[in-house]
Amino acid sequence: MSTNIVWHQASVTKEDRRKRNGHHSCILWFTGLSGSGKSTVANAVSKKLFDLCVQNYVLDGDNIRHGLNKDLGFSAEDRTENIRRIGEVAKLFVDSGQFVLTAFISPFAQDRELVRNLVEKDEFIEIYVKCPLEECERRDPKGLYKKARNGEIRNFTGIDSPYEAPVSPELTIETHRYTIDECANQVIAYLRERNFIKGESENGV
Ligand SMILES: Nc1ncnc2c1ncn2[C@@H]1O[C@H](COP(=O)(O)OP(=O)(O)O)[C@@H](O)[C@H]1O
Ligand SMILES: [Mg+2]
Repeated sequence: MSTNIVWHQASVTKEDRRKRNGHHSCILWFTGLSGSGKSTVANAVSKKLFDLCVQNYVLDGDNIRHGLNKDLGFSAEDRTENIRRIGEVAKLFVDSGQFVLTAFISPFAQDRELVRNLVEKDEFIEIYVKCPLEECERRDPKGLYKKARNGEIRNFTGIDSPYEAPVSPELTIETHRYTIDECANQVIAYLRERNFIKGESENGV
């Protein structure tokens, strides 16, 4: 732990930035099994927000593991540290007045709670991307389930590592029941309901 570090107060506050942007800022935390559709839906929502002139950015699991977290593996300890760091980065985005959409399996409820507690109550929206394991395995967009079944990958969530489903997420989207566009619209509708965003996009969504 470093000593002699003093927080420097920002001259432009989060509130200033939100006011300028004309919208709220918060974390949209997508959690779910590999292949459930976190990246797909997060990116679809991102595009819709972009079209609504809402400042936003997607933090995606694999991309972060290439850079910021490339020193971390998939043990329980490393998964926890992975999420902790992402939570801290996400918090900076909230402070910058943006929506930050995170697409990480984040299998442990305790880790997600840690991030929830990093920010204000209305700044953490947990979105459970719900899809049966069989369907995720059928999709297998990266061929990872096949490798996990062959024993080529260990500690794979849903196979030989647990996934703790959210108990009371702000939102649940069921990607085996609805199309990608419908799922994304459910998220946008939720943000409108909470008055986090306003205005209409070109296609009226
Ligand atoms: N309603 C849906 N929502 C999201 N993805 C869907 C949906 N229906 C089919 N898919 C497909 O499921 C796969 C999900 O993969 P991906 O988004 O990479 O999952 P994750 O990021 O959760 O590992 C993609 O190939 C996507 O096209
Ligand atoms: Mg993904």
